[in-house]
Amino acid sequence: MNSSLQLSEDIAEQLCEKYFGLAGTCHRLGGYDDINFVLVVDGKKEYVLKCSDDTSKRLGWEHESALINSISITTGNASFRVPECLQSSTGDYVVAASVNAIDVNLRLLTFLDGSALSNYRYRSPSLLHDIGEAAGSLNLTLSHVDPAPFQTRIEWDVRHVGDQRKYLHVIADDSDRQLVTEVLDRFGAFIATNDADLRRQVIHNDLNDANILISPEGIRIIDFGDVTHTFAVCEPSIALAYVMMNQPAPLQSAQAFLRGYTSVRTLSETEAEGLYHFVRARLALSVIRSACQRSDGATEPYIFASEADAWQLLRYLSDRDAEYCTAVFRKACGFPSVRGSVRVCELLDRCTDARFPVDIDSDEVFHAVDFSVRSPTFYKYRESYNPAVDSRRIANILADTGATCAVGRYREPRLCYQADQYSEEGIADRTVHLGLDVFKPAGTTVRAVLDGTVSGVSATGNHLDYGHVLILKHRVEDTQFYSLYGHLSKESISQFQIGDRITGGQAIATLGDTDENGGWVPHLHFQILVDMLGYSDTFPGVASPDEIHIWEDICPDPNRLLRLGSRFSFAPVSQQKLQERRQQVLSPNLSLSYSEPLHIVKGGGQYLFDAEGRRYLDCVNNVCHVGHCHPRIVSAAAQQISVLNTNTRYLHENIVEYGEALLETFPESMDVVFFVNSGSEANDLALRLASAATGQRGVITLDAAYHGHLAPLIDISPYKFRGRGGQPQADHVFVAEIPDTFRGKWRGDNQLDNYINNVRDCIGDAQQAGGLRAFISESIASCAGQIEFPRGYLRAVYSMIREAGGVCIADEVQVGFGRVGEAFWAFELQDVVPDIVTMGKPIGNGHPLGAVVTSRRIAEAFNTGMEYFNTYGGNPVSCAIGLEVLRVIHDEGLQEHAGAVGGILKSGLTELCERHDIIGDVRGQGLFLGIEFVRGDGSLEPDPDAASHIVDRIKNKSILLSTDGPDHNVIKIKPPMVIDREDVEGLLVSLESVLRERPFPHELL
Ligand SMILES: Cc1ncc(COP(=O)(O)O)c(C=O)c1O
Repeated sequence: MNSSLQLSEDIAEQLCEKYFGLAGTCHRLGGYDDINFVLVVDGKKEYVLKCSDDTSKRLGWEHESALINSISITTGNASFRVPECLQSSTGDYVVAASVNAIDVNLRLLTFLDGSALSNYRYRSPSLLHDIGEAAGSLNLTLSHVDPAPFQTRIEWDVRHVGDQRKYLHVIADDSDRQLVTEVLDRFGAFIATNDADLRRQVIHNDLNDANILISPEGIRIIDFGDVTHTFAVCEPSIALAYVMMNQPAPLQSAQAFLRGYTSVRTLSETEAEGLYHFVRARLALSVIRSACQRSDGATEPYIFASEADAWQLLRYLSDRDAEYCTAVFRKACGFPSVRGSVRVCELLDRCTDARFPVDIDSDEVFHAVDFSVRSPTFYKYRESYNPAVDSRRIANILADTGATCAVGRYREPRLCYQADQYSEEGIADRTVHLGLDVFKPAGTTVRAVLDGTVSGVSATGNHLDYGHVLILKHRVEDTQFYSLYGHLSKESISQFQIGDRITGGQAIATLGDTDENGGWVPHLHFQILVDMLGYSDTFPGVASPDEIHIWEDICPDPNRLLRLGSRFSFAPVSQQKLQERRQQVLSPNLSLSYSEPLHIVKGGGQYLFDAEGRRYLDCVNNVCHVGHCHPRIVSAAAQQISVLNTNTRYLHENIVEYGEALLETFPESMDVVFFVNSGSEANDLALRLASAATGQRGVITLDAAYHGHLAPLIDISPYKFRGRGGQPQADHVFVAEIPDTFRGKWRGDNQLDNYINNVRDCIGDAQQAGGLRAFISESIASCAGQIEFPRGYLRAVYSMIREAGGVCIADEVQVGFGRVGEAFWAFELQDVVPDIVTMGKPIGNGHPLGAVVTSRRIAEAFNTGMEYFNTYGGNPVSCAIGLEVLRVIHDEGLQEHAGAVGGILKSGLTELCERHDIIGDVRGQGLFLGIEFVRGDGSLEPDPDAASHIVDRIKNKSILLSTDGPDHNVIKIKPPMVIDREDVEGLLVSLESVLRERPFPHELL
């Protein structure tokens, strides 16, 4: 440490000028040992001046300078950059100088721009992959460096962490000290066994989160002050420790880093297996050094910057099975997650003398039952597992197929595992089945598949667990593996002791009944285990889809042994292939949400489920209004389609009953309904009705509005024709300013008159161009960014329009059917009665349906002699669905619910707005809300990056949101109306936690 050296910024500037001929201003930087300054030249940070009064370092500095300059040369345009060391005016890399009569050494390095990894609270997998790649490239480059100058034994070499034992006493807390001792012991044991297999080379040796910088051009690595010659694997281990620190799912972060690292620099199997010990050893080294510094009286904050995080990660890793962590690391490094996996699969494939694990008839016909997420029969949302119901369903399937024995597939994602033991913080719930199920009655004999010994016997009373389980250990040729038999009867396994010898085909148990098998329909869960991973008498039978790639190696397909046929193993659809096929057949302007699109296969209530069973709270879909796949809607549709579906040219009750019910929700003056197939069709018809009623062409629309995809509607949708790929404004269209008091043309309170006058101007323009047909708008503008109009706006506008001979069209496609809470129709919020109302989206809860409601007067004007015929509009199935939607909204009180839950959500969002300066505005009504993001610097500058970052991040927290608005900076919230209070509170918590991850990546670049 520089004990006596006092170096002011002025003196630093003089030194730069004197020795390096560079004039500028110096600013002090932090530093562990040296005194560092950044030298700013012409307003730009250009260099770093490093000073030390420890003149014994001179030779080390010379070596280091030569090393980093050689890296700069050899790496050229590699994925990372390191600083360059500059020569002084006399051609030296290290300058000996005297400051206040103290001898010092100086050197000057180029300053690398970038933000330290430590600033990144959220680290995306692609960022971690890039960092891994940079670390791998660096390690590869350094592997060619002559080790001779870097052989000195240094304190920060993880390899010598055992030297720190003498300081263990400085860790005051007993359990902390024990933990660190255990880490050192296991590290020592690993090295003792594997020393010869660990490669040595020169490494950077301090890839901590302050030394890894992220810039738009790539990764920068600084501070080569700890370079040493040691085990190569120390390098990724040190970086890994900092990559995982303070992360919600450290092992997930580790995988992204390691995939990047090993894409450049492979690790041997031994090195990959050593990572767990090396990471913990580095953390131990770090916490011991911090404790020593503290006991020496150090107080500088940067010395202790990561101490708490290091302890936390050390505990996290130590609480987990070393074996499981190692499996994760192995897999990420490109190896099967456990040793022996390939060999066991080979043996299983070759084995011909295995017995079937449960007694079956000689003429048994097996049937693979679809229990997967896609299944229409099994496990709907909120359906708790019911063995009696399942048993009936299985019996029906067997009867339908003529099979005699139901089988549940290996690798099948299922939604039945709804119990606490299937959830873990930070990763998706466990859904993917690791065994194979054979359904046979309770009491059926279970048999050992091969010779073996009893290795585990256990009982658990947990609901939806194994109940009673037996694990056998087998040895075939040179290899050991295990078979697991779950859901056994209690009595049948009580006889066993660990180590009992069992012969292949021996009756080992009987199947348990529901009251002793975890609550399931009686069946055998049969699973193969390559490695017990530290478990002894039980083993997970289901894995998280986030980790299935690891578990597939540990638990290979039992069908390799049982050979029922490939259809008895679930074959997941490759998302990438599906996307490629989609691209082949569909137009490129059909977009997909998210850079990694979701493969959604099931919906229920307010939730969507992807093909692997991950559940998402859907805050985007205002179409499935009363909830995805609402059972009453499903049943209404199924019943009617099984009886009749035809057009409206025959008498049918449905269209009449539905027409009556829909008109009931409108003011009396609106008494005629047309049924169509979509919101676009509804708006197109509305324009035709308006033409018939007025005989004019001019249409006034609001800026940023969207009214549908048909050609006449693109004309009146500035959202489209003023957007990307847009078109010139049609001569019959007049765009009024959106009455947005937050960001519109006139901002703040008391701007109503300006917006009204603006419509008056548009009316004048329309009249001048020939005449006014209609004014069309939503009553809360959706695509414009959930804009609420000032009270009185539509009232004043409607009256002017009518005075000018036009009609008023309210587009309720997004905002209707009780969504706004306070009213059933959003136009009611503005206290107006339109001439024409158009409906779509929620009206059919996802079924293609739309409607137009108007007055008899306008309908009569449209009755020109030309028939209005719509092949599908008003068919009995659509009407049955529409009617049931209205009834469900009523019966479930969904309008009031939207008001209440939406109110809680809005006030929660408003509180977030008060705490987070990047939220500029929160607005909307009921369950139609918007959050507008701004730069957070007091300006109104829109921040679309923040909005889209939050949408992406919150997807990882299993919530779906979307952005909109002309600046794409508004997050829209418009979930199915059955979203409940708990969901809303979860949404608020998740939003807060993402907001707390600021600075966001785009703010750091
Ligand atoms: C306000 C509004 N009107 C009309 C439409 C068109 O409806 P559809 O897509 O059913 O044709 C939409 C669709 O997003 C809309 O948001």
